[in-house]
Amino acid sequence: MKKILITGGAGFIGSHVVRHFVNKYPEYEIYNLDKLTYAGNLENLKDIENKSNYHFIKADIVDSDKMFEIFEKYCFDGVLHLAAESHVDRSILDPMAFIYTNVVGTVNLLNAARKIWEDDLEDKVFYHISTDEVYGSLGETGYFTEETPYRPNSPYSASKASSDHFVRAYYKTYNLPVKITNCSNNFGPYQFPEKLIPLIINNIKHNKPLPIYGKGLNIRDWLFVEDHVKAIDLVFHKGKRGETYNIGGSNEWTNIDLVRKICKIMDKKLNREEPAENLITFVKDRAGHDLRYAIDSSKIQNELGWKPEHSFEEALEKTIDWYLKSEEWLENVTSGNYQKYYELQYSKR
Ligand code: NAD
Ligand code: TYD
Repeated sequence: MKKILITGGAGFIGSHVVRHFVNKYPEYEIYNLDKLTYAGNLENLKDIENKSNYHFIKADIVDSDKMFEIFEKYCFDGVLHLAAESHVDRSILDPMAFIYTNVVGTVNLLNAARKIWEDDLEDKVFYHISTDEVYGSLGETGYFTEETPYRPNSPYSASKASSDHFVRAYYKTYNLPVKITNCSNNFGPYQFPEKLIPLIINNIKHNKPLPIYGKGLNIRDWLFVEDHVKAIDLVFHKGKRGETYNIGGSNEWTNIDLVRKICKIMDKKLNREEPAENLITFVKDRAGHDLRYAIDSSKIQNELGWKPEHSFEEALEKTIDWYLKSEEWLENVTSGNYQKYYELQYSKR
């Protein structure tokens, strides 16, 4: 019986990872450790919360004593580390929260794993889930490879870059069995509506302006979350220790084209007279806004046989349908503090 710790399992990607591991590997005991910040929501896991191999631990990874205590109590065999502050705009408003959770929190987990695994590193895995944003920004051509130098531009990406460096350093210095992946922008059900795709869907639903930063010409490479989860499963089980793998959708969109596409799909579904595109509003650009992200994922494709399986059109439509039917979920996550954040972020733009 293997004991697997998944941090940040109540968040967007984490909840998909937890669900996948709980359902696919009944022989594993899955421990979801999450602080339940604004972005963590146990409603994301309602369908699996009663499974006998699923366990929830509410804790903050910044609390080093607690991390030692938990690792000593459960003696995990593997760690999938997803807990993070994850939103660039919030990192511009308050960088310190990102340094605590993303840097200090990650190092606390590394120290706890190192301590309980010191006598036996056989079959152990510390897998750190990271972002392509650590590489900085591309111009109109080129791709991020695993060899691209780190040049993070936002407090979020700087904190993730720092955590990646610590993970790699613990491999080199202490031989901790680590793996790292750097993935492009995810989308899908359960994503908090501060990120572009769910924010636009939610605003169209409520007939609110659709804020586009700058001219809307920044480019992101979008990947359906379930394709990311398949890659995570492969790397966790078959990836090489000490290695980094880039994961991406080969699916580049300018923000404005993507938003127009969502508008068209939702016009059909909502059957409204006024086209949603009329809600598009160009607003002040994000500070330090990276122009383009694009991933060369040939390493994970060639070495581990991964490729994205979902077509973008179908996955986007599936995502929109999920948000349209998940009225109560949206209502719950956008009440209270979300309104305050929205006001702070968008009222003066
Ligand atoms: P999210 O913001 O939806 O969820 C983060 C989760 O971490 C939440 O459940 C939150 O409660 C938890 N958390 C935050 N601080 C914590 C703390 N101090 N202690 C314990 N738990 C804490 O994030 P996401 O979009 O699901 O991203 C998950 C991971 O994947 C992050 O590490 C992120 O950097 C990485 N990533 C995200 C994307 C993306 O497009 N969303 C792309 C590539 C990589
Ligand atoms: P986001 O979903 O925040 O992801 P990231 O910044 O990590 O790539 O943003 C995706 C793109 O959409 C990014 O170029 C910023 C832009 N954007 C807007 O134009 N308007 C918005 O309201 C948001 C949240 C993002």
